Amino acid sequence: MTTQIRCLISAGPTREWIDPVRFISNPSSGKMGYALAEEAVSRGFEVYLVSGPVSLQPPTGAEVIKVESAQEMQEAMFRLFDQASLVIMAAAVSDHRPSHCSRQKIKKSDFPNSLELVPNNDVVASLVGGRRPGQTIVGFAAETENLLEHARQKLEAKDLDWIAANDVSSDEHGFQSDFNDVTLLSKSEETIPLGRKSKSEIAKKILDYVWP
Ligand code: PMT
Repeated sequence: MTTQIRCLISAGPTREWIDPVRFISNPSSGKMGYALAEEAVSRGFEVYLVSGPVSLQPPTGAEVIKVESAQEMQEAMFRLFDQASLVIMAAAVSDHRPSHCSRQKIKKSDFPNSLELVPNNDVVASLVGGRRPGQTIVGFAAETENLLEHARQKLEAKDLDWIAANDVSSDEHGFQSDFNDVTLLSKSEETIPLGRKSKSEIAKKILDYVWP
Protein backbone atom coordinates (compact mmCIF):
# COMPACT_ATOMS: atom_id res chain seq x y z
CA MET A 1 0.00 0.00 0.00
CA THR A 2 1.52 3.33 -1.02
CA THR A 3 1.75 5.89 1.81
CA GLN A 4 -0.09 9.12 1.10
CA ILE A 5 1.98 12.26 0.65
CA ARG A 6 1.04 14.87 3.26
CA CYS A 7 0.14 18.40 2.15
CA LEU A 8 -0.09 21.07 4.87
CA ILE A 9 -2.03 24.22 3.98
CA SER A 10 -2.84 27.36 5.98
CA ALA A 11 -5.89 29.48 5.12
CA GLY A 12 -7.92 32.42 6.31
CA PRO A 13 -7.18 35.39 8.58
CA THR A 14 -5.79 35.50 12.09
CA ARG A 15 -7.41 37.41 14.95
CA GLU A 16 -5.25 39.39 17.37
CA TRP A 17 -7.36 40.26 20.44
CA ILE A 18 -7.33 43.72 22.08
CA ASP A 19 -9.85 42.80 24.79
CA PRO A 20 -12.68 40.19 24.98
CA VAL A 21 -14.80 42.04 22.41
CA ARG A 22 -12.31 43.64 20.01
CA PHE A 23 -9.59 42.25 17.72
CA ILE A 24 -7.34 43.15 14.79
CA SER A 25 -7.85 41.03 11.67
CA ASN A 26 -8.08 41.20 7.85
CA PRO A 27 -10.69 40.39 5.16
CA SER A 28 -9.37 36.94 4.21
CA SER A 29 -12.31 34.59 3.62
CA GLY A 30 -10.21 31.40 3.39
CA LYS A 31 -11.44 30.67 -0.15
CA MET A 32 -7.94 30.42 -1.67
CA GLY A 33 -6.61 28.03 0.97
CA TYR A 34 -9.77 25.92 0.96
CA ALA A 35 -9.62 25.66 -2.85
CA LEU A 36 -6.03 24.45 -2.55
CA ALA A 37 -7.06 21.89 0.08
CA GLU A 38 -9.93 20.59 -2.06
CA GLU A 39 -7.65 20.26 -5.08
CA ALA A 40 -4.92 18.56 -3.06
CA VAL A 41 -7.47 16.03 -1.71
CA SER A 42 -8.66 15.34 -5.26
CA ARG A 43 -5.02 14.63 -6.22
CA GLY A 44 -4.64 12.04 -3.48
CA PHE A 45 -2.68 14.03 -0.90
CA GLU A 46 -3.25 13.51 2.83
CA VAL A 47 -4.36 17.11 3.51
CA TYR A 48 -4.06 19.01 6.79
CA LEU A 49 -5.69 22.46 6.67
CA VAL A 50 -4.83 24.95 9.41
CA SER A 51 -7.62 27.49 9.21
CA GLY A 52 -8.25 30.88 10.79
CA PRO A 53 -11.88 31.86 11.48
CA VAL A 54 -13.84 31.59 8.22
CA SER A 55 -17.43 30.75 7.28
CA LEU A 56 -16.68 28.03 4.72
CA GLN A 57 -17.58 24.34 4.76
CA PRO A 58 -14.49 22.25 5.57
CA PRO A 59 -13.29 20.49 2.40
CA THR A 60 -14.30 16.81 2.41
CA GLY A 61 -11.33 14.56 3.05
CA ALA A 62 -9.13 17.22 4.66
CA GLU A 63 -8.21 17.28 8.35
CA VAL A 64 -9.10 20.82 9.49
CA ILE A 65 -7.35 22.41 12.50
CA LYS A 66 -9.10 25.60 13.61
CA VAL A 67 -6.94 28.41 15.01
CA GLU A 68 -7.45 32.12 15.79
CA SER A 69 -4.23 34.03 16.45
CA ALA A 70 -0.95 34.03 14.53
CA GLN A 71 0.67 32.35 17.55
CA GLU A 72 -1.91 29.53 17.47
CA MET A 73 -1.42 29.20 13.69
CA GLN A 74 2.34 28.98 14.19
CA GLU A 75 1.96 26.26 16.86
CA ALA A 76 -0.32 24.18 14.61
CA MET A 77 1.93 24.59 11.56
CA PHE A 78 5.02 23.63 13.56
CA ARG A 79 3.28 20.55 14.98
CA LEU A 80 2.36 19.25 11.50
CA PHE A 81 5.31 20.54 9.47
CA ASP A 82 7.86 17.75 9.73
CA GLN A 83 5.61 15.07 8.20
CA ALA A 84 4.52 17.30 5.31
CA SER A 85 6.18 17.09 1.89
CA LEU A 86 4.26 20.06 0.46
CA VAL A 87 3.49 23.15 2.57
CA ILE A 88 1.38 26.03 1.20
CA MET A 89 0.95 29.19 3.30
CA ALA A 90 -2.16 30.83 1.87
CA ALA A 91 -3.27 32.32 5.21
CA ALA A 92 -3.29 36.07 5.82
CA VAL A 93 -1.25 36.02 9.01
CA SER A 94 -1.19 39.24 11.01
CA ASP A 95 2.34 40.65 11.31
CA HIS A 96 1.53 42.31 14.64
CA ARG A 97 -0.60 41.84 17.76
CA PRO A 98 -1.48 44.21 20.62
CA SER A 99 1.30 44.26 23.23
CA HIS A 100 -1.37 43.68 25.86
CA CYS A 101 -4.76 41.94 25.73
CA SER A 102 -7.10 43.26 28.43
CA ARG A 103 -8.94 40.58 30.41
CA GLN A 104 -11.93 42.94 30.76
CA LYS A 105 -13.71 44.96 28.07
CA ILE A 106 -11.99 48.36 27.91
CA LYS A 107 -14.53 51.07 28.70
CA LYS A 108 -15.10 53.52 25.85
CA SER A 109 -13.94 56.38 28.05
CA ASP A 110 -10.70 54.50 28.88
CA PHE A 111 -9.95 53.38 25.31
CA PRO A 112 -6.49 54.69 24.30
CA ASN A 113 -5.93 56.89 21.22
CA SER A 114 -3.25 54.53 19.98
CA LEU A 115 -2.51 50.83 20.44
CA GLU A 116 0.98 49.51 21.14
CA LEU A 117 1.67 46.58 18.82
CA VAL A 118 4.39 43.93 18.95
CA PRO A 119 5.53 41.79 16.00
CA ASN A 120 4.31 38.24 15.46
CA ASN A 121 6.82 35.71 14.21
CA ASP A 122 7.02 35.18 10.48
CA VAL A 123 5.48 31.69 10.51
CA VAL A 124 6.54 30.48 7.06
CA ALA A 125 10.07 31.87 7.43
CA SER A 126 10.37 30.10 10.80
CA LEU A 127 9.18 26.83 9.25
CA VAL A 128 11.78 27.13 6.48
CA GLY A 129 14.43 27.31 9.19
CA GLY A 130 13.62 23.70 10.12
CA ARG A 131 12.99 22.26 6.65
CA ARG A 132 14.19 18.80 5.72
CA PRO A 133 15.37 17.68 2.25
CA GLY A 134 12.51 16.97 -0.13
CA GLN A 135 10.05 19.47 1.35
CA THR A 136 8.50 22.03 -1.01
CA ILE A 137 7.38 25.27 0.65
CA VAL A 138 5.05 27.69 -1.14
CA GLY A 139 4.10 31.15 0.07
CA PHE A 140 1.76 33.87 -1.13
CA ALA A 141 2.47 37.58 -1.47
CA ALA A 142 -0.49 39.93 -1.22
CA GLU A 143 0.59 43.18 -2.84
CA THR A 144 -1.08 46.42 -3.96
CA GLU A 145 1.91 47.81 -5.92
CA ASN A 146 5.24 46.67 -7.40
CA LEU A 147 3.80 43.16 -7.34
CA LEU A 148 6.64 41.12 -8.83
CA GLU A 149 9.42 43.09 -7.16
CA HIS A 150 7.87 42.81 -3.70
CA ALA A 151 6.92 39.16 -4.20
CA ARG A 152 10.41 38.18 -5.32
CA GLN A 153 11.88 40.01 -2.33
CA LYS A 154 9.64 37.92 -0.04
CA LEU A 155 10.49 34.71 -1.91
CA GLU A 156 14.18 35.35 -1.27
CA ALA A 157 13.87 36.79 2.24
CA LYS A 158 11.77 33.84 3.45
CA ASP A 159 13.85 31.32 1.41
CA LEU A 160 10.74 29.78 -0.19
CA ASP A 161 10.64 27.42 -3.18
CA TRP A 162 7.70 29.22 -4.76
CA ILE A 163 5.60 32.31 -4.10
CA ALA A 164 2.19 33.12 -5.58
CA ALA A 165 2.24 36.85 -6.18
CA ASN A 166 -1.30 38.12 -6.05
CA ASP A 167 -2.52 41.59 -6.81
CA VAL A 168 -4.97 42.60 -4.08
CA SER A 169 -5.32 46.24 -5.18
CA SER A 170 -8.78 45.72 -6.67
CA ASP A 171 -11.91 44.12 -5.23
CA GLU A 172 -12.26 42.21 -8.52
CA HIS A 173 -9.87 39.58 -7.12
CA GLY A 174 -7.90 38.77 -3.97
CA PHE A 175 -9.40 38.99 -0.50
CA GLN A 176 -13.03 37.68 -0.29
CA SER A 177 -13.31 37.38 -4.07
CA ASP A 178 -13.92 34.09 -5.94
CA PHE A 179 -11.01 35.09 -8.18
CA ASN A 180 -7.30 35.64 -7.75
CA ASP A 181 -4.86 37.23 -10.20
CA VAL A 182 -1.61 35.36 -9.63
CA THR A 183 1.91 35.24 -11.01
CA LEU A 184 3.89 32.25 -9.75
CA LEU A 185 7.57 32.91 -9.01
CA SER A 186 10.07 30.14 -8.37
CA LYS A 187 13.36 30.00 -6.53
CA SER A 188 14.95 29.16 -9.88
CA GLU A 189 13.91 32.55 -11.30
CA GLU A 190 10.84 31.33 -13.24
CA THR A 191 8.02 33.89 -13.60
CA ILE A 192 4.76 32.21 -14.60
CA PRO A 193 1.72 34.46 -15.10
CA LEU A 194 -1.40 32.43 -14.20
CA GLY A 195 -3.64 35.45 -14.78
CA ARG A 196 -7.02 36.21 -13.23
CA LYS A 197 -8.90 32.98 -12.68
CA SER A 198 -11.30 31.39 -10.20
CA LYS A 199 -9.53 30.32 -7.02
CA SER A 200 -10.25 26.67 -7.84
CA GLU A 201 -8.55 27.15 -11.23
CA ILE A 202 -5.64 28.97 -9.58
CA ALA A 203 -5.34 26.09 -7.07
CA LYS A 204 -5.11 23.57 -9.94
CA LYS A 205 -2.41 25.62 -11.69
CA ILE A 206 -0.37 26.14 -8.51
CA LEU A 207 -0.39 22.40 -7.77
CA ASP A 208 0.49 21.60 -11.40
CA TYR A 209 3.67 23.67 -11.06
CA VAL A 210 4.75 23.09 -7.45
CA TRP A 211 4.03 19.32 -7.46
CA PRO A 212 4.21 18.20 -11.11
O1 PMT B 1 -8.64 34.08 1.88
P1 PMT B 1 -9.14 34.72 0.61
O2 PMT B 1 -10.30 35.66 0.86
O3 PMT B 1 -9.44 33.71 -0.47
O4 PMT B 1 -7.97 35.67 0.04
C1 PMT B 1 -6.82 35.01 -0.44
C2 PMT B 1 -5.56 35.77 0.01
C3 PMT B 1 -5.54 37.13 -0.64
C4 PMT B 1 -5.57 35.91 1.53
C5 PMT B 1 -4.36 34.90 -0.43
O5 PMT B 1 -4.37 34.80 -1.85
C6 PMT B 1 -3.06 35.54 0.00
O6 PMT B 1 -2.51 36.42 -0.65
N1 PMT B 1 -2.56 35.07 1.17
C7 PMT B 1 -1.35 35.66 1.76
C8 PMT B 1 -1.72 36.93 2.47
C9 PMT B 1 -0.52 37.46 3.22
O7 PMT B 1 -0.41 37.43 4.42
O8 PMT B 1 0.46 37.87 2.36
P2 PMT B 1 1.82 38.60 2.89
O9 PMT B 1 2.48 39.14 1.67
O10 PMT B 1 1.51 39.54 4.03
O11 PMT B 1 2.65 37.34 3.52
C10 PMT B 1 3.61 36.69 2.75
C11 PMT B 1 3.66 35.21 3.13
O12 PMT B 1 4.17 35.08 4.47
C12 PMT B 1 2.31 34.51 3.10
O13 PMT B 1 2.51 33.18 2.63
C13 PMT B 1 1.88 34.50 4.57
O14 PMT B 1 1.07 33.36 4.87
C14 PMT B 1 3.22 34.41 5.28
N2 PMT B 1 3.26 35.06 6.59
C15 PMT B 1 2.98 36.38 6.71
C16 PMT B 1 3.07 36.97 7.95
C17 PMT B 1 3.46 36.19 9.08
N3 PMT B 1 3.56 36.73 10.30
N4 PMT B 1 3.75 34.87 8.93
C18 PMT B 1 3.66 34.29 7.69
O15 PMT B 1 3.91 33.09 7.54
